[in-house]
Amino acid sequence: MGPLIAPSILSADYANLQSEIARAAGADWVHVDVMDNHFVPNLTIGLPVVEALLACTDLPLDCHLMIENPDEWAPAYAEAGANSVTFHIEAAGAPVRLARELRRLDTRAGVALKPATPIDAVAELLSEIDLLLVMTVEPGFGGQEFLEMCLPKIRRARELVSSSGLHVWLQVDGGVSEDTIERCAEAGADVFVAGSAVFGSDDPAAAIGKLRELATKAG
Ligand code: DX5
Ligand code: ZN
Repeated sequence: MGPLIAPSILSADYANLQSEIARAAGADWVHVDVMDNHFVPNLTIGLPVVEALLACTDLPLDCHLMIENPDEWAPAYAEAGANSVTFHIEAAGAPVRLARELRRLDTRAGVALKPATPIDAVAELLSEIDLLLVMTVEPGFGGQEFLEMCLPKIRRARELVSSSGLHVWLQVDGGVSEDTIERCAEAGADVFVAGSAVFGSDDPAAAIGKLRELATKAG
């Protein structure tokens, strides 16, 4: 399968999310950043908006929960019908139990790592998850500079996933653009979140096409 492109609506017009998603033609998933102003110093949207988005698009919603206590809050996103629900390993109390609960609710379970969290933190979890998100900025805001220091970790994550023989998507999120996506793909990522690079563009559909082309060639 080719690379998947997941535009992040964090950089979209929040007053017009339905039409913004429609502008992102060619997207594979829509990435939704849920922030609680505790796990990260920013506040975005929560379950009611995710439910409204589910009702107005057929695209799979990829929910990235940057929240404390995902053990309590994450299952509701799965119950609502999110395609994937990703929680942070730094915030989860019982990650195995939570990943199993998400899968039981028929969603894909994802685990995210902040830039300074070593990949070892999730090595034992691979069989429990469908998606591993390696953050390439400190979570909390769009439009930040890509952290080159994360590239070796993406490579180690790819080795870990490939040697496991399991199907686990390797997602990168933060500063992914036409300038950085090739390095991420070369390092082994196969799902690319891009916020400002897509919604900051005059032509989001063309931006998605260009990102896909670069990732396909480099991957
Ligand atoms: C940041 C979010 C990202 C954000 C990426 O904490 O998780 O999904 O939207 O934005 P860009 O692509 O602009 O770095
Ligand atoms: Zn995100």
